[in-house]
Amino acid sequence: MPPPRSAVVFLDPHFTVGEVDPLLFGSFVEHLGRCVYTGLFEPDHPAADAAGLRTDVLALVRELGVTMVRYPGGNFVSAYRWEDGVGPADLRPRRLDPAWRTIETNRFGLGEFTAFTRAAGLEAMMAVNLGTRGPAEAADLLEYCNHPSGTTLSDLRGAHGAPEPYGIALWCLGNELDGPWQVGHKTADEYGRLTAETARLMRMIDPSVRLIACGSSGSGMPTFGDWESTVLAHAYDQVDYISLHAYYDPEANDPASYLASACDMERFITDVIALCDAARARHRSAKRLSLSFDEWNIWYMSRQRPGQGEWPRAPRLLEDVYTVTDAVVFGTLLITLLRHCDRVTAACLAQLVNVIAPIMTEPGGPAWRQTIFHPFAQAARYGRGQVLQLHVESPTYETPKFGDVPLLHATAVHGEDGVLTVFAVNRDPAADLPLTVHLGGFTAGGPAVHSVLADDDPAAANTMTAPDRVTPRTLAVPEVEDGRLTAVLPPLSWNVLRLPLAPAH
Ligand code: AHR
Repeated sequence: MPPPRSAVVFLDPHFTVGEVDPLLFGSFVEHLGRCVYTGLFEPDHPAADAAGLRTDVLALVRELGVTMVRYPGGNFVSAYRWEDGVGPADLRPRRLDPAWRTIETNRFGLGEFTAFTRAAGLEAMMAVNLGTRGPAEAADLLEYCNHPSGTTLSDLRGAHGAPEPYGIALWCLGNELDGPWQVGHKTADEYGRLTAETARLMRMIDPSVRLIACGSSGSGMPTFGDWESTVLAHAYDQVDYISLHAYYDPEANDPASYLASACDMERFITDVIALCDAARARHRSAKRLSLSFDEWNIWYMSRQRPGQGEWPRAPRLLEDVYTVTDAVVFGTLLITLLRHCDRVTAACLAQLVNVIAPIMTEPGGPAWRQTIFHPFAQAARYGRGQVLQLHVESPTYETPKFGDVPLLHATAVHGEDGVLTVFAVNRDPAADLPLTVHLGGFTAGGPAVHSVLADDDPAAANTMTAPDRVTPRTLAVPEVEDGRLTAVLPPLSWNVLRLPLAPAH
């Protein structure tokens, strides 16, 4: 019999990648399908509060541990007029939303969004429309949101019931304008000029804003690389972040490559870092750009059918149901973001409710957690502190897309709470993966805990009728001996190993 395949990790408290920015655990609310309407906002629902927000959803958002939320799109923002969503609700216009071919009632807008972020304790990341609009409308929106008072727009906010400024710090300069599907799609030169001018004007109005330029909509875009270089040639000095978006489709990939989706994310991040730093050198700039991975998730995109005919209101769009396999791949993406926490300082799981989401709802009915909810909640709770550099030795498997890929995908965080957390995925669908973590200078201060998300049926999912079919469970306490933590990672599993450290750490 061949010896069992096993993996080894070496770590040391002195070797760190950097501190995790809490904004890494952001999410995204777009006017799309039922994310807003009958998702987080449903005034007639028995659990709705006075603002029309579903308190059952708010409770799950808090449990998920989201820190920040991007709004109002996405593709939606590129034809959106923010003024439509403020003022008395019964006077707001109904509009066509060309991006998702639906009717937008504007019953939910800026004020309702702010009620949501405050109720859930979230920071806002606001996107401006650079598809059909430009610097003037972006500046107006910023003045409405952030200027204290004494101007028409800031006083209008006061008249709308919000005398205190919203104080929104993070602003996306448009959305996916490299994509031919985007309303107002632009060349890199057009977008770079527009974004530089918009950023300049926005900073004149509020110098404290942090601005995000659109990078590529995916690593596979034909313009990837050239887009970033050209946009940054125009706008490097004006912006603080560049964005990345990535979705992984379980049905558009062979299964082995799908399990290795994080290889694409990893390469995308390192390539964008290189592009940013090349622009930095050309600009002779002291500033280092951050990466805002402000859309990422699993998305069964190949199942999506384009809307036709009718213009419905809040239809069921992109309501993907996630399996255990999806949650495991999702976990590898979280690990990859953490491994780059020195440069990826903001990220948004797209999206939050109903639309490719960790939280699902039924109109007038319950709300529940999808499988992907659990890895996110655990990473958001335990992934705070210093990410450690790991030396990993792992058996590999072959993939058509990425060549040989390690079966183990892992990272470790030296927590603010004095606990060492190892996040680890076993990509092997058929066999356990024994893991040994060499603790270096860390000393155990108590017994370890091993939480695992896995299932005999990798296609198992949570649904309205079986909302807790898939949840993490606690396995036998892993051993800690001679400076080594040992555990067995079940086939196709997301694992969280938590080890309290002796006080010296
Ligand atoms: O999140 C769904 C859509 O994906 C967003 O609207 C768009 O930005 C991206 O293509």
